[in-house]
Amino acid sequence: MRAFRDGDRAAVEALWARVFPDEPPRNAPALMLDHKLEVQSELLLVGEVGGSDAAVVGAVMAGYDGVRGWLYHLAIAPEHRRRGFGAQLVRAAEARLRTLGCSKVNLQVRASNREVVAFYQSVGYEVEERVSMGRRLEGER
Ligand SMILES: CC(C)(COP(=O)(O)OP(=O)(O)OC[C@H]1O[C@@H](n2cnc3c(N)ncnc32)[C@H](O)[C@@H]1OP(=O)(O)O)[C@@H](O)C(=O)NCCC(=O)NCCS
Repeated sequence: MRAFRDGDRAAVEALWARVFPDEPPRNAPALMLDHKLEVQSELLLVGEVGGSDAAVVGAVMAGYDGVRGWLYHLAIAPEHRRRGFGAQLVRAAEARLRTLGCSKVNLQVRASNREVVAFYQSVGYEVEERVSMGRRLEGER
């Protein structure tokens, strides 16, 4: 588990495109990478397996706004799941958030995505009864 490097771009774009095939255009992998690399780029992490020919098999974005930390777009390549890599990436992101002073991490999962809810519960997250609200700001890039 390590911070993203420029050479990881193609691998992370391909991973997100594969794991999140139904995302709207505003969440296109290349766009998300561009935007994340502009803000707290050190909180974009990848997981790789292998030695000299190591390949990126996981990625996650984190952010800290001074009040809460957030996790986004955690993805592990399907053929590498259930080997603890997702949990390791979450812990790596949490460790970085902690060094910034973050004491609480939030995340959003579609309610229908029961498997991912089960994953996050297994790594210590609780379902909190909240209404999740959002608004698109005009002038979206
Ligand atoms: C969620 C995801 C990152 C988990 O990655 P992973 O590397 O397979 O997870 P781990 O191996 O670390 O799993 C740890 C534990 O989580 C739980 N878990 C993981 N996947 C699960 C599933 N599909 N169903 C139920 N529990 C699951 C298990 O308790 C597991 O431990 P076990 O394998 O010893 O039983 C991966 O399934 C994924 O990329 N999913 C699609 C992307 C996605 O929807 N991301 C969330 C966006 S918010």
